[in-house]
Amino acid sequence: MGSPLVRTLATAGTFSSSWQSATLRIIMPLPAYVPPQKMEVLFSREQLAERVHELGTQISADYAGQSIVLIGVLKGAAIFLSDLARSITVDNTFDFVAVSSYGRARVSSGQVKLIKDIDNPIEGKHVILVEDILDTGLTLSYLRQLMLQHKPASLKIATCLDKPDRRLVPIEADYVCFKIPNRFVVGYGMDFAERYRGVEDIRIYPETPAGH
Ligand code: IMP
Repeated sequence: MGSPLVRTLATAGTFSSSWQSATLRIIMPLPAYVPPQKMEVLFSREQLAERVHELGTQISADYAGQSIVLIGVLKGAAIFLSDLARSITVDNTFDFVAVSSYGRARVSSGQVKLIKDIDNPIEGKHVILVEDILDTGLTLSYLRQLMLQHKPASLKIATCLDKPDRRLVPIEADYVCFKIPNRFVVGYGMDFAERYRGVEDIRIYPETPAGH
């Protein structure tokens, strides 16, 4: 998700014409806390562990004898990456990027902005971008283009969840733990207003946040 307090909404026709092409940033109160126990479990801790391990085994086989760089997309992918990396048996290193939530699907512009770049060069290396959830595809399309400019030997995408029905741009992940319908989920690194990242299973948030 992104900033808890600042939501960015496309302007509606109720605003003056000079504002209509602009994007409004309005301050909204932090939503009421919903205890995770009250949310339906979509994937349990055990299901996640088993599937992530399968993905790690597959990646280890695909890259047998090679070294890989795992690039996690902060913050959502941090927990998935740490579990995935521990299931990968080939030589690997980590790096992280961060993008601003400004410009994701919930705004009209659809722009994504890099706020933290990779620390180490990836030219000539085998890279896997690791994301928590592939939704509209805007973030990973942007990051893929950006990473390709660094001329890696190869570039693949691993995502914990994939919501194919929400795609706005054509992009597929090479490694997917689970495909899910269009429901807003939290836990296992994924947040709503920065909450619930530490919830150990993936749960369905009872409402669909604006823009989803
Ligand atoms: P997109 O593919 O560019 O639309 O953005 C993917 C990002 O949107 C993810 O990395 C999440 O941060 C966020 N996101 C999309 N769907 C969900 C969800 O169901 N729960 C929590 N975050 C989500």
